[in-house]
Amino acid sequence: MSVQVSQDFHQVVKERHSVRYYDPSVKMTIAELEEILHEATLAPSSSNLQPWRFLVIEDQALKEKLLPIAFNQKQVVDASAVIAVFGDLKWYERGEQIYSASVDAGYMTEEVKQQFVGTAENVYRNMDEARKKSIVHIDGGLVSMQLMLSARARGYDTVPMGGFDGVKFKEAFNVPEHYENIMLIAIGKAAQPGRPTVRLPLDQIVSWNEL
Ligand SMILES: Cc1cc2nc3c(=O)[nH]c(=O)nc-3n(C[C@H](O)[C@H](O)[C@H](O)COP(=O)(O)O)c2cc1C
Repeated sequence: MSVQVSQDFHQVVKERHSVRYYDPSVKMTIAELEEILHEATLAPSSSNLQPWRFLVIEDQALKEKLLPIAFNQKQVVDASAVIAVFGDLKWYERGEQIYSASVDAGYMTEEVKQQFVGTAENVYRNMDEARKKSIVHIDGGLVSMQLMLSARARGYDTVPMGGFDGVKFKEAFNVPEHYENIMLIAIGKAAQPGRPTVRLPLDQIVSWNEL
């Protein structure tokens, strides 16, 4: 199946709604999922350390296993896949790898790399657990949003899900201790459109220059 990628950002943003009814007969290909994941990871992250990790659950038996853990939300089994987004609480250990690649690509000098690696090791490693979790949740939210928009631009739909038992999920899917659950994202072809939702008016949520 060839997928048209929409170039109209406004349309993509406006047409994204959380979809909870999926056509179970539509199976996205690994290539399509990888394209979406790749585009999602172009999101910004703290010091470009990319703490996000993903588990793509597309095997039907595994989706069935997830169903009760996700409080029987049916999109888990009907969507083409469920993508678990994690934040690696040891994310800063990839600094050497990431910044060396930047040097190899000519984006960064060796000296700047050494500074960045030092910051990653000294600043992030010594942070308290709550601050570490906050960082991976911020970056995890950004990559998740970008994933959902990338999917929509390809004619697919998603629903972000916080409604699952995080402890049971980690047990059932052998999630390492240092992976923080961010959210699950069901992804696939809508069988029914998402219900319309409202947003607070700007004058209730935006202040200009002072709060
Ligand atoms: C962090 C997060 C967790 C959510 N968890 C669930 C969930 O478990 N099940 C569900 O059906 N929708 C879930 N939603 C979807 C929201 O209900 C939805 O985004 C909101 O109502 C706005 O609708 P829209 O996404 O269609 O614009 C979640 C959304 C977010 C951002």
